[in-house]
Amino acid sequence: MMNMFEPGTIGNLTTSNRIVLAPLTRSRCAPDLNPGKPWVVDYYTQRAGCGLIVSEACAISEGGYGFGGAPGIFNDDQVKGWQEVTKAVHEKNGLIFCQLWHMGRVSEFFVRFCLLYIVIVIVVIIIVIIIIVIVIVIIVIILIMMFDA
Ligand SMILES: Cc1cc2nc3c(=O)[nH]c(=O)nc-3n(C[C@H](O)[C@H](O)[C@H](O)COP(=O)(O)O)c2cc1C
Repeated sequence: MMNMFEPGTIGNLTTSNRIVLAPLTRSRCAPDLNPGKPWVVDYYTQRAGCGLIVSEACAISEGGYGFGGAPGIFNDDQVKGWQEVTKAVHEKNGLIFCQLWHMGRVSEFFVRFCLLYIVIVIVVIIIVIIIIVIVIVIIVIILIMMFDA
């Protein structure tokens, strides 16, 4: 009977076992979409014991990016970042594939900036509410002091 801890093959590659880590977006690559960060390298290195790691989905272009904190693989720095990850995984005898991602409609400029505007509007509303509350409190304090006097 087949055992999940026995080596497997994928094409001409051999895996140390038949366990595969599913791609899981961790949103840890902000702000430069670069996975060359200690916590990203650690995340993949800790899982190098799987027969195969499928990386979190990775933006293939600036225009195809639309998910905060997801990594990219479209400029030299990001490629170098991934090389840090793959080197660390290979040193642990792990195997890693890169999942490529174009994020479709959410990566459209308009949609991205709409979301940004919504966040800005919410923050402005909160600030205005705080200012109104402070002004009301000040007015109440002044009125109380006037009546006391
Ligand atoms: C937090 C989270 C992030 C995920 N990120 C990705 C991803 O980057 N790429 C992908 O193909 N699937 C992604 N998935 C889907 C998982 O890989 C999927 O849930 C897993 O393979 C289990 O499959 P199931 O949901 O059909 O049971 C993600 C799922 C979760 C919960």
